[in-house]
Amino acid sequence: MAKIMDVHEAVRSRHSVRQYLDRPIPEDIRTELIAETERVNREGALNIQIFFDEPRAFDSILAKYGRFSGVSDYIALVGQKAEDLDEKIGYFGERLVLLAQMLGLNTCWVAETYGKKRCRAKIGQNEKLVSVIALGYGATPGIPHKSKPMKILCNVENDMPEWFVKGMEAAILAPTAMNLQRFFMERMENIVIAKSTGIRYAQINLGIVKYHFEIGAGKENFSWG
Ligand SMILES: Cc1cc2nc3c(=O)[nH]c(=O)nc-3n(C[C@H](O)[C@H](O)[C@H](O)COP(=O)(O)O)c2cc1C
Repeated sequence: MAKIMDVHEAVRSRHSVRQYLDRPIPEDIRTELIAETERVNREGALNIQIFFDEPRAFDSILAKYGRFSGVSDYIALVGQKAEDLDEKIGYFGERLVLLAQMLGLNTCWVAETYGKKRCRAKIGQNEKLVSVIALGYGATPGIPHKSKPMKILCNVENDMPEWFVKGMEAAILAPTAMNLQRFFMERMENIVIAKSTGIRYAQINLGIVKYHFEIGAGKENFSWG
């Protein structure tokens, strides 16, 4: 097992990284990432594909405009078109992001600034390439994003249960497109309703944030409403 941290540490230490070192991902780490991708595809009925030593998707004008460099590994997030596809992609994609972090790698969600046409993903009939995740050894570990205060992102009450506070702390650390953090969590007893208050990539962001919330709160402490 090549993990160097647990999932809670991964939530805290993950930041988007756009510049990568010319350092190949070792075989054992590739094997773990491939195995988890297969599990995620089974659980979520998705067609996520992982590519190593494939620099073409990030060798494009858009990628350079997005300040990406040295990206030669990436995860292509593909699934059958459906109303809940984007949220599922967010949820399961972030599971892969946090595993990569636990394995000592860095990542960045990339829905726009890459060469979509150069992406090697095989997209079946009625399927969609929702986004990719850049992967590799970062030139730096990245920096923490600026965050909205918790009171703007949930209904704060005087005695919030500890699990809810921990869930919110993890949710606040989640990546969202352009760091907009347009989500709101509402708690009634042990039911939590997660709402998106944005438009752009709203459902992907919501899936990512819900995955973080579950890690912080502990799935056994609440249900989604
Ligand atoms: C759905 C989604 C799409 C994103 N698309 C891009 C992108 O096209 N280009 C880019 O440079 N960053 C992209 N990002 C990264 C965000 O800018 C980044 O997650 C955000 O600024 C928060 O920073 P952090 O990830 O370091 O916490 C995307 C993030 C998400 C969640």
